[in-house]
Amino acid sequence: MENMIMGFIFLPMLLSQSFITALAMSQPNFTTDQSALLEFKTHITSDPLNILFSNWSSATPVYNWFGVSCGDLYRRVTSLDLSNINLTGSLPSHLGNLSFLVSLNLSRNSFNGHLPPELGKLRCLRFMDLSFNSPDGTSQVRFGCF
Ligand SMILES: *[C@@H]1O[C@H](CO)[C@@H](O)[C@H](O)[C@H]1NC(C)=O
Ligand SMILES: *[C@@H]1O[C@H](CO)[C@@H](O)[C@H](O)[C@H]1NC(C)=O
Ligand SMILES: *[C@@H]1O[C@H](CO)[C@@H](O)[C@H](O)[C@H]1NC(C)=O
Ligand SMILES: *[C@@H]1O[C@H](CO)[C@@H](O)[C@H](O)[C@H]1NC(C)=O
Ligand SMILES: *[C@@H]1O[C@H](CO)[C@@H](O)[C@H](O)[C@H]1NC(C)=O
Repeated sequence: MENMIMGFIFLPMLLSQSFITALAMSQPNFTTDQSALLEFKTHITSDPLNILFSNWSSATPVYNWFGVSCGDLYRRVTSLDLSNINLTGSLPSHLGNLSFLVSLNLSRNSFNGHLPPELGKLRCLRFMDLSFNSPDGTSQVRFGCF
């Protein structure tokens, strides 16, 4: 009888715990941020100063990577500043998984192609500077969730 009562009490707790775990696993997290940035790296076709190719290594945590800043709380990426280093490439949809990103500065490079619509998922984004990339792609955008 006592076991049954315990079961009634704990079953919902166990269920909700696994529900929360499942939910957490489907959400972007610290690991997702790293894979988003590594995907971004594969979209770089030219890195003449050899910055990302030598520095963005999965052997070191993303918060030690050039141009990357993370928040203290969850160690999620909050800022990406790769301005003015002559990168050529395009932007992958995976950037939309950097869900804590506040500032994205890719100005003064040669990024081309479309902005992935997934960037619209970045609800914390306040600053996005893509100026001086392709001649028709001069944009400096400010919006945000705060
Ligand atoms: C982070 O997300 C990945 C991919 O969805 C998942 O495999 C991993 O278990 C998650 N890690 C944590 C700590 O939630
Ligand atoms: C990557 O760059 C950062 C910032 O310049 C530097 O602190 C770090 O030591 C570099 N890491 C490697 C592995 O070169
Ligand atoms: C982006 O970086 C450039 C310098 O490389 C700076 O002039 C510009 O103000 C930055 N943009 C934002 C929105 O912070
Ligand atoms: C970027 O490339 C331009 C033209 O190729 C060059 O003049 C400039 O010095 C380069 N910038 C850096 C930071 O290397
Ligand atoms: C991240 O984004 C890409 C493309 O938008 C997607 O395929 C991937 O499943 C996303 N989630 C994780 C956890 O990497």
